[in-house]
Amino acid sequence: MSHSERDSNSFSLEKLRKTHLPIVWDMQKSETLITWSERQFVESYDNVYVLLSGNKEIVGFTVILENPPDAEIHNLFICNELRGRGLGKILFKQAIQMLSAEVENLYLEVSEDNNIAIALYKSLGFEEIGARKNYYRKGSTASNAIIMHLLI
Ligand SMILES: CC(C)(COP(=O)(O)OP(=O)(O)OC[C@H]1O[C@@H](n2cnc3c(N)ncnc32)[C@H](O)[C@@H]1OP(=O)(O)O)[C@@H](O)C(=O)NCCC(=O)NCCS
Repeated sequence: MSHSERDSNSFSLEKLRKTHLPIVWDMQKSETLITWSERQFVESYDNVYVLLSGNKEIVGFTVILENPPDAEIHNLFICNELRGRGLGKILFKQAIQMLSAEVENLYLEVSEDNNIAIALYKSLGFEEIGARKNYYRKGSTASNAIIMHLLI
C-alpha cells in the first residue's frame, strides 16, 4: 500500500452487503481475539460496517450497536497484513462519524491482554470504567475484559 493509499480519504466505512459477509467471515476466522460465531455475525448483519480501500477491497470491519444515548463498538478488526499503518484509527474515527447525533456515550470491552487494542482506544480518549472477570474464554484459560468509555 502506497503512502497516498493510506490517506484517510482513500478509505470509506460502509454498511456490510450480503456479498461481503463470506469475505468478512473468512478474514476474521483465524483471529482468536474475535470471539463471535458466524451466527452472531449474521444476526448482527445490519450493524456490521466494512472499511473499504480506494479499490473497494475490504481491509477491516467493525460492529456498531446503537441505543441512544449509548452505543457499543464490537469486533474492531484490521486485516493482519495491514496492521500498524494507522487503519485501525481511521476505521474508528469513521465509525464515530457514523453514529447518530443522539449518541453521547460509546462503550467497548477489550481483553486485558490485548495491549495493542488498549493502546489504540486510550489514544482515542477512552477511559477504563470497569472490568468483567473471566469474560473471554479460550479452552481452559480465561481473561478479564476491561470496559472502556468515551464521552462523545
Ligand atoms: C486492534 C487493531 C484493530 C488495531 O489496528 P491497526 O491498524 O493495527 O492500528 P493502527 O495502526 O491504527 O494503530 C493505532 C494505535 O494502536 C496502537 N498500536 C498499533 N500497533 C501497535 C503495536 N504493535 N504495539 C503497541 N501499540 C500499537 C498505537 O496506540 C497506535 O497509535 P499510534 O500509531 O499513534 O501510536 C488490530 O490490531 C486488529 O485488528 N487486531 C485484532 C483484532 C482485535 O484485537 N480487535 C480489538 C478487540 S475486539
